[in-house]
Amino acid sequence: MNWGDGTRAVRAGLPEPDKYEPTLPGPVFAAHYHLPGEPTGPYTYGRDANPTWTHLERAIGELEAPGAEVETLVFGSGMAAISAVLFSQLKAGDAVVLPSDGYQALPLVREQLEAYGIEVRTAPTADDAQLEVLEGARLLWIETPSNPGLDVCDVRKLVKAAHAQGTLVAVDNTLATPLGQRPLELGADLSVASGTKGLTGHGDILLGYVTCADPVLAESVRRWRKIVGAIAGPMEAWLAHRSLATLQLRVDRQCGTALALAEALAARADVTGLRYPGLPGDPSHEVASAQMRRFGSVVSFVLPDRARAERFLGALRLAEDATSFGGVRSTAERRGRWGGDAVPEGFIRFSVGAEDPADLLADVLRALDA
Ligand SMILES: Cc1ncc(COP(=O)(O)O)c(C=O)c1O
Repeated sequence: MNWGDGTRAVRAGLPEPDKYEPTLPGPVFAAHYHLPGEPTGPYTYGRDANPTWTHLERAIGELEAPGAEVETLVFGSGMAAISAVLFSQLKAGDAVVLPSDGYQALPLVREQLEAYGIEVRTAPTADDAQLEVLEGARLLWIETPSNPGLDVCDVRKLVKAAHAQGTLVAVDNTLATPLGQRPLELGADLSVASGTKGLTGHGDILLGYVTCADPVLAESVRRWRKIVGAIAGPMEAWLAHRSLATLQLRVDRQCGTALALAEALAARADVTGLRYPGLPGDPSHEVASAQMRRFGSVVSFVLPDRARAERFLGALRLAEDATSFGGVRSTAERRGRWGGDAVPEGFIRFSVGAEDPADLLADVLRALDA
């Protein structure tokens, strides 16, 4: 069906109507299922499959690749999904290309991959620099927009170069959400994301997923989930599915306010290093416009120093000083406090929530003055 994003979001993954059954069946809490005779699927043991996951997996697949035959696997967190792809696809002697400016747990993953004899190469997201270290790699890992620097690379271009030499391409789609970007339509083999952020959007569950079209690839990721057991709880999966119904409402509001915030910050002399891919004039804007449908809820900028950044965070009333992003309640943090990202001391990652735009902007400008 050629539905719009809002229609697809509210209907995603719903089973056929069944008299006296709810529209979205409740969470199924089961470690095992009745299983007389031959132990064949779909539901045998709770680590392998769960009907609540099945509904959610269909829903995410419908949003990641509308109209296409894809498989989605949900996980207990974004890192579980990321690790499932990397560790199921790579073996000793392989080379993998990661972004040098990606999510701050990637360096930990790197250490582990190297301990298993896998060569890890890194390059920045900006200017498609990963192309320069691609030769002979088994897998290319892209994170666009990158977190927290908000650089964007040209997914189609990277995919073309990778596929020409038989390299698999995975895109971390966390920041964009499937309504912001559809990596499989841009040619990637796998779209991988943390559902902890904008996808579920309430800051109350951890979740991850992998979507891909190739059934062989999907099977190897499924096998990894079974081996490691990094599964989502049924309650989390159900809450995530329930949250998808408002995905378009949330991301439209959040992206709209993020752009308004970026425009307001652009006018301030005390703000430097402002980044938002949706802002005309942003270094990422042209490439982002060619591959993104919405630009995300995160705005990054730099205040003169650490003390100034801390005063700003302390003065905010409508944005909590907290990590993570994509939730309906705005959050902001001084990213340098973690020590993992190459950012200035005054670097702020601001995640725009669903508050009234005028209220949030007024709060931010007041806190900057304070
Ligand atoms: C871009 C990106 N990918 C992956 C993750 C990991 O997700 P999770 O915290 O759900 O494991 C995060 C978390 O912040 C992230 O920002």
